[in-house]
Amino acid sequence: MATATKYKIKDDNVSTVEDPFKPYNVGAKPFLKWAGGKGQLLDKFQELYPKQLKQKKIKTFYEPFLGSGAVFFDIAQHYGIESAYLYDINDELILTYKVIQKDVTKLLDFLYRYQKSYIKLDKKQRQEFFYDQRTNYNLQRFNIDYDKYSEQWFPRAAQLIFLNRTCFNGLYRVNSKGEFNSPAGNYDNPTICDEQNLLAVHQVLQIAEIKKADFKEIVTDLKAKSFVYFDPPYRPISKTASFKAYSKQGFTDNEQIQLAKLFRQLDKKGTLVMLSNSDPKNYDPMDNFFDDIYSDYNITRVPARRMINSNPTKRGAINEIVVTNYSIT
Ligand SMILES: C[S@@+](CC[C@H](N)C(=O)[O-])C[C@H]1O[C@@H](n2cnc3c(N)ncnc32)[C@H](O)[C@@H]1O
Repeated sequence: MATATKYKIKDDNVSTVEDPFKPYNVGAKPFLKWAGGKGQLLDKFQELYPKQLKQKKIKTFYEPFLGSGAVFFDIAQHYGIESAYLYDINDELILTYKVIQKDVTKLLDFLYRYQKSYIKLDKKQRQEFFYDQRTNYNLQRFNIDYDKYSEQWFPRAAQLIFLNRTCFNGLYRVNSKGEFNSPAGNYDNPTICDEQNLLAVHQVLQIAEIKKADFKEIVTDLKAKSFVYFDPPYRPISKTASFKAYSKQGFTDNEQIQLAKLFRQLDKKGTLVMLSNSDPKNYDPMDNFFDDIYSDYNITRVPARRMINSNPTKRGAINEIVVTNYSIT
C-alpha cells in the first residue's frame, strides 16, 4: 500500500509567493471531466472577465454551479483573489472536493490502489471491475452521511474519481432514481491517480468555502468587491438533446428565470456578474429566451465545442452565450 509520505508538492511551476496565504499558480486544473466543463473556453472567457478582476481589485469569487471548477481554477491562480465560495447541488461532487481540500494524501492512497488493480487487468476484466464498482457505488449511496465528514468519504471520493476516469466519455450521468449509469469506457492507460494535479488542487482549495447548496444561497454569503460566475445546467437545445443528468432533479426554464432574477438582484448590489449557457439560437434562430430574460445586460456569443456527446458527428462548433452586467473592454 502507498504511504502518505511519498506525496510531495512539486515546486517546479510555482511562481513567487508574496503572501503565503494567497493562492498562486501551482498548475491546478479540473480533476474530473464534467458535462458543460469550461476548460475549452477559458481563453475566450479571460477576455470577458471584468477589468477589476484583471486589475486585482476583486477579493472574493463565487461559483455557485461549480462542476469541475475550470473557471475557479483559472481565477484562483491568476488574479490574486483571497477567498472563494464554491457551491454545487451534487452531493458526490462536493464530498470529493472537501476530501481533496482536507486530506488529499489519504485519498491518493485509495486512488493509487485503484490504479494498480485496474491497469493490470485485461479488457474484459476491466469491464467487470468497472461494473462491480458502479454497482457498489450506487448501493452505497444510501449508507453515506453526506452532511458529516468521515472516514467513509475517502473510498467514496476515490470511487467517484475512478468511475469518472474510466467511464465512457467521462460523463457523470445519473438516472431518475439517482443511480450513476454511465457505461464503461475503453482507455488503454487511464490516469486514475493524478498525484501532481490533486496535490495542486488541494493547495488552491485552501482559500475556498465549499458547500452543497442551491445557487440561491449566494445571497447569504455575499461580500463586497466580489465577482460571481454562474454556469447553470444548459437549457435543453431540443427535445432530444436534453441533458439534465447532473442530479436527478434537472433544471427547468422556471429555474433559469429565478436565476435571471438573482442576477438582477446582485447587479443592484454592485456585484460583478458573468453567466454562461448554451445559445438556443444554434438550433432555433427565433429562440430569444436568454436575450429576453437578460435584455438589460451585455450579451456576447462565443464559439464553443460541445465535448460531451455520445455521437462524435454532433460535436461540431456551436455558440455559447455569455451575459455580463459590466461592459467588455
Ligand atoms: C454546466 S455545469 C457547471 C460546469 C462547470 N462550469 C465546469 O467547468 O465544469 C452545472 C452544474 O450545476 C449544478 N447544479 C444543478 N442545479 C443546481 C442548483 N440548483 N444549485 C447549484 N448547483 C446546481 C450541477 O450539478 C452541475 O455541476
